[in-house]
Amino acid sequence: MSEPLLSIHGLQVCYGAIQAVKSLDLQISEGERVSLIGANGAGKTSSLKALTGLIASSAGDIRFAGRSIRGVPAHELLRRGIAMVPEGRGIFARMSVLENLQAGAYLRRDKQQVNSEIAQLLDNFPNLRIRLQQAAGLLSGGEQQMLALGRALLSRPRLLVLDEPSMGLAPIMVEKVFELIQSVCASGMTLLLVEQNARLALQVTDHAYVMDSGSISLSGASSALLDNEQVRAAYLGE
Ligand SMILES: Nc1ncnc2c1ncn2[C@@H]1O[C@H](COP(=O)(O)OP(=O)(O)OP(=O)(O)O)[C@@H](O)[C@H]1O
Ligand SMILES: [Mg+2]
Repeated sequence: MSEPLLSIHGLQVCYGAIQAVKSLDLQISEGERVSLIGANGAGKTSSLKALTGLIASSAGDIRFAGRSIRGVPAHELLRRGIAMVPEGRGIFARMSVLENLQAGAYLRRDKQQVNSEIAQLLDNFPNLRIRLQQAAGLLSGGEQQMLALGRALLSRPRLLVLDEPSMGLAPIMVEKVFELIQSVCASGMTLLLVEQNARLALQVTDHAYVMDSGSISLSGASSALLDNEQVRAAYLGE
């Protein structure tokens, strides 16, 4: 069997004396959709940030596309194909919607193709088209999430990493954001999703990991976890 696209072993993240991630093991094959769920403070965001080079990790191995990437900074990881939409979205508030989208594609040389992908995105999200020249900071939360997703996609990542895409959104926007995520996945994108709405996360992914106090307490097929009594009681509000 070939090596998974991403494999994380024994990853540890500390903030001073606090061990936020004690030992994370996680693997994703190319084209697979994987979710990481768990209670507040379990260490999900810290894990994603360490993976994407936004913070340092204190131990462990991370391999992506056959190479070790632990300690590689975020901008270099973007070049290698890992794009992350962080918690809170991280758009450039003072830049226009269009400039934000173009920023996502700054490494690409195929500008014509980029423009047609931007046009396609705007067809799907007329709200963004109307506000194309406006400062991105003026967009609603849901529109900002769409923009952040669009920007990440324009880098043509091999692995898309999303931290809480539904956070703070009205149900109708959550639906739209997840429609976009699902259509992207249907085209073969590899996804690592952290999502507070565990039911939604399990519904849109193939495999899932449950994180509890800094390590993985359970993992399996998402469909199996949806039926797991422990998961239902702890994370699905049943
Ligand atoms: N910059 C920081 N400095 C110190 N402690 C931090 C920092 N960031 C996170 N922590 C702590 O690390 C632990 C894990 O936090 P993290 O944000 O990774 O959890 P999470 O699973 O993403 O939670 P949530 O579901 O609330 O987003 C928590 O105890 C948190 O208080
Ligand atoms: Mg978090």
